[in-house]
Amino acid sequence: MALWGGRFTQGPDQRFKDYNDSLKFDYRMALEDIEGSIAWADAIFKAGVLTEQENTDLKKALNELLAEVEKDIDSIATAGDEDIHSYVERRLIEKVGNLGKKLHTGRSRNDQVALDLKLWCRKAVSDALKSITKLQKELVKVASENQGKIFPGYTHLQRAQPVTFAHWVLAYNQMFERDYQRLLNAKALMGTCPLGSAALAGTAYDVDREALAHDLGFDRATSNSLDAVSDRDHVMELLSVASISMVHLSRLAEDLIIYNSGEAKFVELSDKVTSGSSLMPQKKNPDALELIRGKCGRVVGALTGMLVTVKALPLAYDKDLQEDKERLFDAMDTWIDSLDMTTLVFEGIKLNEQNAIDAAKGGYSNATELADYLVGKGIPFREAHSIVGRIVLYAISKQKALEDMDVSEYKEFSDVISDDVYPVLQLENILAKRNIKGGVAPAQTKIELEILTKQLSER
Ligand code: ARG
Repeated sequence: MALWGGRFTQGPDQRFKDYNDSLKFDYRMALEDIEGSIAWADAIFKAGVLTEQENTDLKKALNELLAEVEKDIDSIATAGDEDIHSYVERRLIEKVGNLGKKLHTGRSRNDQVALDLKLWCRKAVSDALKSITKLQKELVKVASENQGKIFPGYTHLQRAQPVTFAHWVLAYNQMFERDYQRLLNAKALMGTCPLGSAALAGTAYDVDREALAHDLGFDRATSNSLDAVSDRDHVMELLSVASISMVHLSRLAEDLIIYNSGEAKFVELSDKVTSGSSLMPQKKNPDALELIRGKCGRVVGALTGMLVTVKALPLAYDKDLQEDKERLFDAMDTWIDSLDMTTLVFEGIKLNEQNAIDAAKGGYSNATELADYLVGKGIPFREAHSIVGRIVLYAISKQKALEDMDVSEYKEFSDVISDDVYPVLQLENILAKRNIKGGVAPAQTKIELEILTKQLSER
């Protein structure tokens, strides 16, 4: 049953119908559509459109429908109606007859779809917040179990200075914490309810829009009907939060792919998140991480697509906006799945301590320490930098680590260097010295972990 047709003398071409219909994807807003319809029934009853009995009967039927739909939402996709709004109305009319035809009084699919999608976005925010929290808790757990474990730190993908595995893990936790906060900010802007804006000019019935907004869990009603029916900022914003977070996940995936590679072997991924090769029996590929890295493009693509759809769109509602849903649904599914997959990766990750220590020791990553040592002996930093550069060149030619050079060799470069240089070059000391907020010292990590554990336990 179509919701329109009176002014048409011909039915739609099947090819147009296939192109135009949105039920195959907007069925995912079935619960929101019914929830909005129940609130609308109350609102137009209070406005004098429905009798008390009619309102009771409509809400009873809508609640029945809600229970039925909850059982098997996916089957709606192929029901053949134009969209989810037509589907709900048809099912309602099947249950209560002509009374069902009164529900749409004063409402348009334009404010209806704006409402449904905003409600959907608000729920999606809650789901994403939960998945971020699960991941953060897992990261904090792994960091707690690996406090003080030495790990090579990189800049330009060149060994730079030693860090700890926990410090590396918690760096990503910071990114996900910002994603969490960004989501909360986005949600704060999703607090206005568009229902009652009708097609574009506002409903002609005396509906209490503030009460309606509160019924549906919003903070207040929207203030301009033209904007309300065509506003999709929340979609763009959610896609942008998801994109930034996917960028974080893909950086994490890339780091772990490198750390897990045969060349590095700093970590080992569990069998649960890797797969084999059909040809090479020895292989164990980091597929989960590669997919997380790859799916970033899909989510960023959804954001780009949505921005371009809304660009230059004339006020108010236009059918172009129907293109908002598929990519939003897909992007949110992809993001949440990727967060959960990352949690799974960390649940089975194993640190290969010795390999990590060997790598942290190699590459002269204690050279900065030697320069600081010279500074401590009164040499200006720029000069110290140059002396250490020459020492490193010498050490490379002798294939020696800095801590393996004799004092007599050091004296060739600077006579201020003596026996007290060796403890300075120790990895543990290098870490412990960076004992300022945000620094790599295990003592700082311990403090940070206490703060994070408390913060996350409240979520
Ligand atoms: N399926 C439509 C959408 O997703 C619902 C709104 C249709 N409104 C209209 N005036 N045709 O945007």
